[in-house]
Amino acid sequence: MAYDPLLPFNDLPDLPPNINYYQPKIVRALAAAARNLGELKGLCATLPDPLLLLNTLVLQESRDSSAIENIVTTQDELYRASLEETTHNSSAKEVLNYREATYAGLARMQSQHNLIVVNTLIGVVQTIKQNRSAVRQAPGTNLRNGATGQIMYTPPCCEDVIRQKLSALEQFINEDDPNGPDPLIKLALIHHQFEAIHPFLDGNGRTGRILIALYLVQQTLLPQPVLYLSRYINLYRTDYYRLLREVTERDSWTEWIVFMLNGIEQTAQLTTSKIRRILALMNEIESDMRQALRSSYNPDLLRIMFMQPYLKIDLLVRNELAHRQTAAIYLKKLAEARILTANPIGKTIYYVNQRLLDILAD
Ligand SMILES: Nc1ncnc2c1ncn2[C@@H]1O[C@H](COP(=O)(O)OP(=O)(O)OP(=O)(O)O)[C@@H](O)[C@H]1O
Ligand SMILES: [Mg+2]
Repeated sequence: MAYDPLLPFNDLPDLPPNINYYQPKIVRALAAAARNLGELKGLCATLPDPLLLLNTLVLQESRDSSAIENIVTTQDELYRASLEETTHNSSAKEVLNYREATYAGLARMQSQHNLIVVNTLIGVVQTIKQNRSAVRQAPGTNLRNGATGQIMYTPPCCEDVIRQKLSALEQFINEDDPNGPDPLIKLALIHHQFEAIHPFLDGNGRTGRILIALYLVQQTLLPQPVLYLSRYINLYRTDYYRLLREVTERDSWTEWIVFMLNGIEQTAQLTTSKIRRILALMNEIESDMRQALRSSYNPDLLRIMFMQPYLKIDLLVRNELAHRQTAAIYLKKLAEARILTANPIGKTIYYVNQRLLDILAD
C-alpha cells in the first residue's frame, strides 16, 4: 500500500536500510566527519582536567537544543538559575532539566555496561519533562507543519508496535557488527529511526539529540559528551525536517546520511576551535589573576571560573575555596582588575566571566 502521512506508519522498517554505504558522496562526507571528530577527540585527551569544560558545553547545548523547542532563555537567566537551588524561571528550569537528562543518561549508560537501552531513553525523556513519560499508549500523535498545520507524518501506533520497533533499534545501537556500516553512519540511521518511531508524546527531538551525544561516547569516538548537533540543526532546520520526511517518503537515505555527516564535520570543527579558544583564554586569565591576587592566587578559583561563568560569594564558600570575607575580597579584586564583570542583581552581586560566555555563545 502507498505511504500515507495521515496513517500511523506501522510499516516503518527496522534498520539498517539496504543501500550502498560506499557511494563516493557518503565516503567523502564520512572521511571529513571522522577526521574532524578525531581531532576533537585528540584535543579532549590533552585536557589537563577532562571535566573542566563539560559543564559549560553541556549547558550551552541544553540552551540550543531547548531553543529548537522554542524554550528560550538568555545566558544571564540561565547561568544565574544554575547557581540556585530552585528557580522561578520556567524556561531556565527546562534547560537545566535538559542538562540533568544528559548527565543522567550518561550515568545510566555507564552503569549498564555502556549499553543504551529503551529504559535509558525513557529515563532521559522523564528527566527532560520532569514527569512519568512512557511509550505512547493512545493514537493521536502526529507531526505537523508549524506554519500550515498540515500533518506531515504520523508515527507508528501504539505501545506494542512501538516497543517492538524500539527493541529492534536497541539491538542495532548496541550490536557490534564488523560488516555493518561505520558508527558515524549508524548514528545518522539511529537518529532517523528514533525520530520516526517517535515513542513519546513529547520530547522526542530532545531525547534523540541526547541519544546522539551518548552514542558518540558509547562508541569511544569521544571521551565525554561534548559534540552537539543542535546548533547545526537549528541553522539548517528546514533541510533537517525535509530530509527526515524524504527518507520516509522516498527512501532518500543518502542525502540524510550526508546531511548528518556534514553536521558532525562542521560541529566537531567548531567545538575544537571553541575549546582551543577557551584554553588560550584560561592561560591569559591565569597570568592576569596571578598579578591581581599575588600570593593568594589559587588554581581552584581559576578552575571554578571556567566551570561556572557566573560566580557569587556563596558559591566560593560552598565549594570551600575561601571563607566569606576572603571570597568577597577575591571577587572584588578580580572585578577591579577587569578579569570578571560585577553585575549586581537585587541583593546579590554576580561576578561574570564575560569573555568565556562570549566564546561559548559564538
Ligand atoms: N517527518 C518527520 N519524520 C520523523 N521525525 C520527524 C519528522 N519531522 C520532525 N521530526 C522529529 O520530531 C521532533 C519533534 O518531536 P517532539 O515535539 O516530540 O520533540 P521535542 O523535543 O519536544 O521538540 P523539538 O525537537 O522541536 O525540540 C523533531 O525534532 C524531529 O526530530
Ligand atoms: Mg515538542
